Amino acid sequence: MNRLSRWTVNLTTERRARRTLDQLGRALDVPPGAQVLELGSGGGGMLALLHERYRPARLVGTDFDPAQVEAARAFLTRRWGALPQTLELREADALALPFPDASFDLVFAMMMLHHVEDHHAHVGPFVRRPQALAEVRRVLRPGGRFVYSEMFQREAVLAALRDLRFDRRFLRSAWRHDLAICTAPG
Ligand SMILES: C[S@@+](CC[C@H](N)C(=O)[O-])C[C@H]1O[C@@H](n2cnc3c(N)ncnc32)[C@H](O)[C@@H]1O
Repeated sequence: MNRLSRWTVNLTTERRARRTLDQLGRALDVPPGAQVLELGSGGGGMLALLHERYRPARLVGTDFDPAQVEAARAFLTRRWGALPQTLELREADALALPFPDASFDLVFAMMMLHHVEDHHAHVGPFVRRPQALAEVRRVLRPGGRFVYSEMFQREAVLAALRDLRFDRRFLRSAWRHDLAICTAPG
């Protein structure tokens, strides 16, 4: 994303994360001791609320754009004074995650899946998303959950998740937007 897009997206990161968590409500279960990963964590709004509401044992925010990793660091440091020891920020590409198999209980990807395509394609290429979803499945423990929101090619995302044997547990479809929780095969 260019500077202006980053600035615009990051301005509303917390507001969108709060609305998402409110919409998920009790469907989102983050057990004590959970290991949680966010892909494309951008400005850090979801990381802030996940830490404050659920205190996961380990929370890792990743983005492939170093400017976004720094934006999240600045946002969270302003909020808390220092980053908690349970929270890590890392530069990482969703297409090749630097984590061992089965290392997380939950993975979040909010409004980021279409960004993994060339030119952030909204229509047309659906080439890299299956690879990113395969990476999600690889790093999730069996029965772990994938939480995502997406606006583009939503049916194709659901089909790719079905191919990977994810079960759909929660799906809220509003105009131009899916919010879902899917469970990795056991
Ligand atoms: C629209 S922003 C959403 C940010 C955040 N999830 C939110 O809801 O506020 C998409 C984010 O995905 C990141 N991104 C794009 N492609 C990525 C990839 N291949 N791996 C990791 N992050 C990626 C971008 O740098 C950007 O921060």
